[in-house]
Amino acid sequence: MNSPVMLGLNLNAPAFVKNANLIAWVADMAALCKPDTIYWCDGSDEEYERLCAQLVAAGTFKKLDPVKRPNSYLACSDPDDVARVEDRTFICSARKEEAGPTNNWTDPAEMRATLHPLFDGSMKGRTMYVVPFSMGPLGSPIAHIGIELSDSPYVAVNMKIMTRMGKAVYDVLGVDGEYVPCVHTVGAPLAAGQADVKWPCNKTKYIVHYPETREIWSFGSGYGGNALLGKKCFALRIASGMGKAAAGGDGGSPGWLAEHMLILGVTNPEGRKYHVAAAFPSACGKTNFAMLIPPAGFDGWKVTTIGDDIAWIKPQPDGTLRAINPEAGYFGVAPGTNTLTNPNCMASLDKNVIFTNVALTDDGDVWWEGMGDAPAHAIDWQGKDWTPQIARETGAKAAHANARFTVPAINNPVLDPAWDDPRGVVIDAFMFGGRRSTTVPLVTEARNWVEGVYMAATMGSETTAAAAGLQGVVRRDPFAMLPFIGYNMSDYFQHWLDLGKKLDVPGARLPRIFTTNWFRKGEDGKFVWPGYGENMRVLKWMIDRIEGKVAGKDHVFGVSPAYEEITWTGMDFSASQFNTVISIDKAAWQQELGLHTQLFNQLHYHLPAELEATRAQIEKRLAA
Ligand code: GTP
Ligand code: SPV
Ligand code: MN
Repeated sequence: MNSPVMLGLNLNAPAFVKNANLIAWVADMAALCKPDTIYWCDGSDEEYERLCAQLVAAGTFKKLDPVKRPNSYLACSDPDDVARVEDRTFICSARKEEAGPTNNWTDPAEMRATLHPLFDGSMKGRTMYVVPFSMGPLGSPIAHIGIELSDSPYVAVNMKIMTRMGKAVYDVLGVDGEYVPCVHTVGAPLAAGQADVKWPCNKTKYIVHYPETREIWSFGSGYGGNALLGKKCFALRIASGMGKAAAGGDGGSPGWLAEHMLILGVTNPEGRKYHVAAAFPSACGKTNFAMLIPPAGFDGWKVTTIGDDIAWIKPQPDGTLRAINPEAGYFGVAPGTNTLTNPNCMASLDKNVIFTNVALTDDGDVWWEGMGDAPAHAIDWQGKDWTPQIARETGAKAAHANARFTVPAINNPVLDPAWDDPRGVVIDAFMFGGRRSTTVPLVTEARNWVEGVYMAATMGSETTAAAAGLQGVVRRDPFAMLPFIGYNMSDYFQHWLDLGKKLDVPGARLPRIFTTNWFRKGEDGKFVWPGYGENMRVLKWMIDRIEGKVAGKDHVFGVSPAYEEITWTGMDFSASQFNTVISIDKAAWQQELGLHTQLFNQLHYHLPAELEATRAQIEKRLAA
């Protein structure tokens, strides 16, 4: 009926697109969103440069100094569009229980009725970009394909960096391959002759997932995880549901995992290499840990990056867990990053970067809080004059706290040779680490899989600028997945427990599970643990545990290191300082258990009995 041809719109599908289903869907979406034109991205460098030049002409991008930051750009967003919007993110499963109490749920038919008028004509005056992408190495058995339709060229160029984006995806897709359809609009149609703004967006925002039909619909934001739909929407919310749906009952397939985890390789001086996947909540140190440089005194130790934000993990017939990084770039937090805290990250940022919401210096470079010496003058992320004096007097920040860089993984000097291996890497250990100024020790190992799942499930963390809303409040963030799980949280706990049971077969070796906290503070309000590269000391203890070299000390909820078990070469940290980051305060833990109980009450529907039993055991040990 309302075909694009009737609207006078040419679909322009190039010959390399052979998937009839895809072409029909693009036609339907074009009929709904009514863009002026459709552009099919091929993912070439030439196309990237052309779109960047177009963004410069539109005022969205500033080209940075070609000597200081070759081929790099700065974008500054609307001040109302700076982070993920968790309260506008919806999981629209058929039944409310399937989304669970931690997700916003709306009946799918009702949500479609709400979204339809919003998307109708939403792309008027704009181009609809067709962005084909693979999450994971093209054709990998662990990878999956998505197609994002977006009216934002900023999204198209970011997707080129963040995913394997382009023509080759259509070869994998073939004539009848499957893809996750993702529709994105900034929600700012242009009337004939209406001038555009630098960062179009809409005050009304909807980030919507339909898990049953595996669709993503995003309205009103152009920023990060709200708009780059391969990342949190697909690779976590939709993919977590796919991994769960792939699981059979007793004796069936264990399914797979989509996790908010970095993946690193760590090689010890004996030359033995291990792979660690670590879940820390947003802005809690994944990028930093994934690029860690071992400190002086750790000769022969090497850390390499496979991924910095997301891991897709699939069990193998031999009982191992193989993981890939579904992404091809890093969308990382800028503030706090410098040549001392993360030299590898700084080196990655020397060319081919898109910066968003950092400050522009007078010499055409970028600056953010915690980068190093402040410039005498800069233009802040909101386009205002910024000087150190203005900052002192008004508290104005040069960069937004959630300012980010988008950079290709291949810029990383410590990129692991297997980062692009379609088979993935075998995971030897999982880590879960929140941001807690009190209570939680530096590192603890779970004594078994169930205890580890309990640790992950009950993890708390202080909220950060990665999401819009109140910052610095402790909330439960199970598995660092609170904003990202695409189905019922209790069913997700059960999925982890079941997977452990199915993989615990003779000859197989389940990954060890650790929990960490780099963020305990002293009475002066400062971090006690120096963090960053020094986290190598904790990583080494974990590897030593795997190799059976250290015994650790048993306590109420796991095993933590004795002072002597940590290598202190090159670091001045006394036994009493160590005690302030490793000690377990009984009263604080009794309170903490109260918070676990609250969480379990919230999640009582389908909550695995093993978790409540583990809680009761810890309570008993605490009382003893
Ligand atoms: P997302 O991309 O939001 O998922 O975050 P992430 O987990 O990758 O966080 P990232 O590594 O970018 O770190 C965010 C903030 O935490 C930065 O300001 C860092 O400086 C700070 N940070 C990272 N590691 C440490 C650490 O070991 N100790 C302390 N005190 N701060 C850290
Ligand atoms: C996070 O918030 O965990 C991120 C950034 O990695 S975003 O892609 O915006 O979600
Ligand atoms: Mn993240």
